[in-house]
Amino acid sequence: MNEKYETHEHDVLIIGAGGAGLRAAVEALNQGASVGVVCKSLLGKAHTVMAEGGIAAAMANVDAGDNWRTHFCDTMRGGKFLNNWRMAQLHAQEAPDRVRELEQWGALFDRTESGDIMQRAFGGHSFKRLCHVGDRTGLEMIRTLQDRGVSMGIDVYMECTVTRLLKDGDRIAGAFGYWREQGRFVLFKAKSIVIATGGIGKAWKITSNSWEYTGDGMALAYEAGAELMDMEFVQFHPTGMVWPPGVQGILVTEAVRGEGGILRNRLGERFMEKYDPKKMELSTRDVVARSIYTEVREGRGTEHGGAYLDISHKPADYVKRKLPGMYHQFKELADVDITSGPMEVGPTCHYVMGGIRVDAESTQASIPGLFAAGEAAAGLHGANRLGGNSLSDLLVFGRRAGAAAAKHAKETATPTLDAAQVEEAAREILAPFERRDGEGPYEIHRELENTLQSLVGIYRNEEDLNRALTEIERLNERASRVRVEGSRLFNPGWHLARDLKSMLTVAECVTRCALARKESRGAHSRLDFPEYDAAWGKKNNIIVRDGAGMTLRQIPVREMPEELQQLLADQK
Ligand code: FUM
Repeated sequence: MNEKYETHEHDVLIIGAGGAGLRAAVEALNQGASVGVVCKSLLGKAHTVMAEGGIAAAMANVDAGDNWRTHFCDTMRGGKFLNNWRMAQLHAQEAPDRVRELEQWGALFDRTESGDIMQRAFGGHSFKRLCHVGDRTGLEMIRTLQDRGVSMGIDVYMECTVTRLLKDGDRIAGAFGYWREQGRFVLFKAKSIVIATGGIGKAWKITSNSWEYTGDGMALAYEAGAELMDMEFVQFHPTGMVWPPGVQGILVTEAVRGEGGILRNRLGERFMEKYDPKKMELSTRDVVARSIYTEVREGRGTEHGGAYLDISHKPADYVKRKLPGMYHQFKELADVDITSGPMEVGPTCHYVMGGIRVDAESTQASIPGLFAAGEAAAGLHGANRLGGNSLSDLLVFGRRAGAAAAKHAKETATPTLDAAQVEEAAREILAPFERRDGEGPYEIHRELENTLQSLVGIYRNEEDLNRALTEIERLNERASRVRVEGSRLFNPGWHLARDLKSMLTVAECVTRCALARKESRGAHSRLDFPEYDAAWGKKNNIIVRDGAGMTLRQIPVREMPEELQQLLADQK
């Protein structure tokens, strides 16, 4: 078999080259492992760059009162207490060290007058906590980690899609994939695999996510038998571009509001006064997204169906210095000068809080040798993520994943690749070329995006979710007969046919979990169950593969130790 397919062998294989994947790679290398990183796109192009406004870490450089305890409490409150408390604790405790380390590796940050890393306000954070460089923080983080990893000797496999995880008995043995350019197959043999593939946003029509974010890692883990958790919690960032149509959904960083941006409706009303008079524009994302959505639905939206976001009351040079990316984005894409007038913004699908269920300390999933970090993993953010907690998540749990994966590899014998699994993976990926009838993948994808956008969006109800499920079943059936023309050489239709499978899997998970959770909590708002339900507040949804179908069950949220309960009570 090794002669039949190009094969690479590593102790640790990392799938995904965003912040979590690169931080995991650096750590696994530190531990002496040989490391391969596979990415669907080019190195450096990751959704991490869409976390523009900053990294949340209680450094107390600007607000001296900040500390990990307050960061922990904010994260738990933001996540409506569905978070894995241990992940939230580790995250809050370790984030400052991870930021300092990034700085030592060359990351540039804006500075306070005394030369410390500058921090800004963001929604749901009690203090100015987001370490940033203008509005390009994610980009700086990727640049730094990439330089570090490459100089340490990671092997990078770019433009390569992994289509199946391979197992040796119960444990991980490797992965099967193909080069996107030539369509040739490739095998990876590895004792440990870290899934760091990010999110699922490309299954929705209006999204900040680019083409790579089709839920591949979650679908791969699910197919291999791992558990997925709390998939109903999909975050709609309140502010994406709404006009012109070609740029709809592109992120407008929360840093605009962090720097004092004000939201108004068509009538000029500062509507957040109605929805959260205390925190106003810096309320949590779920609240601000619902508020904008409601203003539009009730007829007070802007010309193009959004809200106005205005930062033009600040001096123009300040806006250009603190928000250079936004200044250029609006100037070039919408012909709007944000130093002299408002932007038009509306909610955009940005992030999924659910994902692969992992152990808090090691990030190991329910399959030996399989780890997950970043957006692909569930637990840290509960029902709603606070802005800026994604970048710190990538650093804290990327590092933990890399360390645990290297340790597992050290303690494990070399696995054997099973020829039957490999041949089955090859057959599956070639099947669309062999069909005589059936349709192409583009229309199925378009219908999936529309279905999720209209039926599994910010507000949900039983009828819509049931309709969505029926529609997903129909689309699944059509996708199983999808036909692709041409050759394997750089064939985007073939790539999409494969991505559709992942998107349909995660779409079904989200819809089933959303139907099951009969309450409203964080990013999951049910019009037919508008209140919190105490019983649901103590349950996580778990999905596993059961033959060809999905099994959904609930598990109790992990009990929090007394001292953390006390901390939350004291910080009310
Ligand atoms: O608005 C933003 O800059 C996004 C940050 C995040 O998703 O954490």
